[in-house]
Amino acid sequence: MKHYTSIQDIDNINSWIEEAKQIKANPLKNKDLGKNKTLGLLFFNSSLRTRLSTQKAALNLGMDPIVMNVSGDAWGIEFGDGTVMNGTTAEHIREAAAVVSQYCDVIAVRAFPSLTDKVKDESEQVLNAFKTYASVPVVNMESATGHPLQGLTDAITISENAKVKKPKVVLSWAPHVRALPHAVANSFTEAMQKMDVEFVIANPEGYDLSPEITKDTPIYHNQEEAFKDADFVYTKNWSSYKDYGQIKNTDPNWMITKGKIGDAKFMHCLPVRRNVVVEDAVLDTDSSLVIEQANNRTYAAQLVLKKLLEKL
Ligand code: CP
Repeated sequence: MKHYTSIQDIDNINSWIEEAKQIKANPLKNKDLGKNKTLGLLFFNSSLRTRLSTQKAALNLGMDPIVMNVSGDAWGIEFGDGTVMNGTTAEHIREAAAVVSQYCDVIAVRAFPSLTDKVKDESEQVLNAFKTYASVPVVNMESATGHPLQGLTDAITISENAKVKKPKVVLSWAPHVRALPHAVANSFTEAMQKMDVEFVIANPEGYDLSPEITKDTPIYHNQEEAFKDADFVYTKNWSSYKDYGQIKNTDPNWMITKGKIGDAKFMHCLPVRRNVVVEDAVLDTDSSLVIEQANNRTYAAQLVLKKLLEKL
């Protein structure tokens, strides 16, 4: 593995999960692996968990993390080739990525989609430009279409909490006041498709994710039907994929309630809007795995960094 930019970079999810559990049991075991190695974390968008857990993972491996808020603090970066740069962008990605590669042994990037231009978002312009022009491994800290550190985290959390050999896992859309990306839902779907689980998706009409992602995963437009016998309910809002980036539904009946999920465990990547996406009565009980999930972000990132460091 040269880069970690997609769930599809995971060759064997079961062995990755087992290794992550070993890291979690002894997080400082490889504290010299990253000695004198630098992780650069470049944020084009906001973050709490990804920013802190990925730094924590680097520190556990003995790496030195350095962080930059690219959108606020760096020169405006141009990604188009052949552009006459007489507008707002001051530096081309060809130079920027090459320069950062001299300071960092691994580069991690967060760059959200526009949600206005499906073709451009699906081209993963920012992530792929770093992969092309950086001379060091690149880690996806959430791109236009994927959040593979989160997806790996979620797979680890389900494995840790499963009470039956093949649990039923439901990914459910829930309402939100803003148009949100598909990245978390996409990577969660890809991770579940690699695991030995019964996996279904519940979302309103007009909210089906990309068929390139869902493939043959069953999609229900009736949440109650989808939740029947669920062991895990993973909730996330996403904007319409068909009517790209639009909010077509705000029906509060899709909010997750204790009555709906019963004994199933509740999961969400966070941040979550209380009493819009999920009611307090779910988050404030043992039903919720969200804090445990956020903890596992460190070990998922540490596993990825370990694998990349071992190849340097
Ligand atoms: N789940 C997640 O990626 O959280 P942040 O946006 O806070 O990093």
